[in-house]
Amino acid sequence: QDGMNAQELGKLLHREPAEIVKKLFMLGVMVNQNQSLDKDTIEILAADYGIEAKEKVHEDLSDLDKIFEKEMKNTDHLVSRPPVVTIMGHVDHGKTTLLDHLRHSHITAGEAGGITQAIGAYQVRHGDNQITFLDTPGHAAFTEMRARGANITDITILVVAADDGVMPQTIEAINHAKAAKTPIIVAINKIDKPDANPQHVTDQLMQYGLVPEKLGGDTIFVNISAKFGKNIDELLDMIILEAEVMELKADPDQPAAGSVIEARLDQGKGPVATLLVQQGTLHVGDPIVAGHTFGRVRTMTNERGREVKKATPSSPVSITGLNEVPEAGDRYVVFDDEKTARSVGEERAKEAQVEERRKTTRVTLDSLFDSL
Ligand code: GTP
Ligand code: MG
Repeated sequence: QDGMNAQELGKLLHREPAEIVKKLFMLGVMVNQNQSLDKDTIEILAADYGIEAKEKVHEDLSDLDKIFEKEMKNTDHLVSRPPVVTIMGHVDHGKTTLLDHLRHSHITAGEAGGITQAIGAYQVRHGDNQITFLDTPGHAAFTEMRARGANITDITILVVAADDGVMPQTIEAINHAKAAKTPIIVAINKIDKPDANPQHVTDQLMQYGLVPEKLGGDTIFVNISAKFGKNIDELLDMIILEAEVMELKADPDQPAAGSVIEARLDQGKGPVATLLVQQGTLHVGDPIVAGHTFGRVRTMTNERGREVKKATPSSPVSITGLNEVPEAGDRYVVFDDEKTARSVGEERAKEAQVEERRKTTRVTLDSLFDSL
């Protein structure tokens, strides 16, 4: 770039040439817009605009998924972590009731139309163990989100109502779990109902390759009543058992990485995101990039609304401090310093904008051709 002048440099940096000249003046270099600059001067100027970091960003750091994958493969100080469990199943088969029972609160009553609108996350204690639960929306429109949910899940609990049997979203859930290679534990629910027929449900599920252990298969089946809390402890025992076999591990000593479970804009707090920690430990104050947003973790609360200073692997936490609202399913990564987080974040925001513009242009062109 040796020989570039303020005019060309301004174009490259998206700055007015006059601003470049002024900046150079402040740095003790007197030039006009058309005078060519030497390499050192350009470098100093670029550094002043934070370009050095940005070029590095462009090379590798802006690929968040790649950093995430790398972080996940880290095997330095691995220790056991709680399993992350997703409850899936057809509409009204009892997913929320089950989760509700587990956390002894009553989300079902307050939910709009009784349908879960977004993935909620919650950690429960069972004996000496913790289990992280994700509640996935049951509505067909949320299929994509659920597909994303399956990817951060260790174990899928497939809830099937004993009075209704295998339904379209039951099959969908089985396919998601198979695609994500997560083991399925079948919870046949509503066994308290007079018309419950768990045997029929089992027969149906066997057609999809889910064969109970007692019939020579390797799928755990538990008959439960989410509403009356029947056999829930047994279900939790089975989850812990499965998790032990899987030897789930993470390194709590490194910067955190994980996924966005849900996010929204809060009137007072700004963007609020529920994050799942999948690697490392997340701390208040950490510089973070989530999807196309960035910031610094300002506050962090657990699922009970209690403030926490750090979050270890497999815990879900709600954070504030991002500059915008990320999307559910986005990856997030913690960086060593805020400057890097900012430049990575800005770079990603810009990429997203370009992508968005490209999409819009395409749509406009398409409609143009359509109207011809
Ligand atoms: P979506 O979020 O809409 O997909 O539904 P869901 O799977 O979360 O079902 P939800 O927990 O909302 O339960 C649907 C209905 O079934 C509610 O009226 C529950 O009270 C009822 N229900 C859930 N579990 C049981 C159970 O074990 N026994 C009986 N009798 N009713 C149940
Ligand atoms: Mg629900």
